[in-house]
Amino acid sequence: MTKSLIIAVDGPAASGKGTVASQLAEAYGLPYLDTGLLYRAVGVGVLDAGGSLDDEAAAEVVARALDASHLHDTVRLTSRDAGEAASRIAGYPGVRAALLDFQKAFAAQPGGAVLDGRDIGTVIAPEAPAKLFVTATAEVRAARRWKQLTGRGEVIAFEDMLADIIKRDERDAGRGAAPMVQADDAVLLDTTDMTIETAFDAARRIVEAARARHGL
Ligand code: C5P
Repeated sequence: MTKSLIIAVDGPAASGKGTVASQLAEAYGLPYLDTGLLYRAVGVGVLDAGGSLDDEAAAEVVARALDASHLHDTVRLTSRDAGEAASRIAGYPGVRAALLDFQKAFAAQPGGAVLDGRDIGTVIAPEAPAKLFVTATAEVRAARRWKQLTGRGEVIAFEDMLADIIKRDERDAGRGAAPMVQADDAVLLDTTDMTIETAFDAARRIVEAARARHGL
């Protein structure tokens, strides 16, 4: 079977992984999935139903019923509350299991795909020929997210944003189910001192090296 160009992009919140992943998808003409949106939609779904984020069974029910119609409200889904809710329910094995097949099928499309998240290179597509782990310091990530959220009217102090980011890192990296971790064969891309343009150039070079290595 010929290998397809699956590009797995993992990393912590506001590392620039989403921007890099969507630009790679455009450059290579591949379909793109932001898997964080799935977890965000589950978190928001639990809250909208009046449920508790501590209720694993309720979160699993929402995850099993998830479809494309729940992913449209990107302003709501990318809010601070949705990110917090997502990371709370993302530790539940039943939620992760409910979202697994869809993500695996997305990655397995003929020709390839680009996915970003926390466990793409380790769980969803361990066979991906190109893997990036995108990171940046917590301060720089908090500053990026703060600018994005305040720019569209959310009221939040920078210190609270930084505390959010650090807490989310600890929760995502410390959970038992598919923790955020750099895959052994992923290339680290630290975007702390990079612009969007230089980060994309570096990402493209990583993918080109992977293509050459795998004859893709
Ligand atoms: O990437 P984003 O910040 O949108 O992800 C929101 C939350 O969803 C993360 O903090 C993480 O808890 C969870 N997530 C995950 N696995 C993924 C993508 C996101 O656990 N593949």
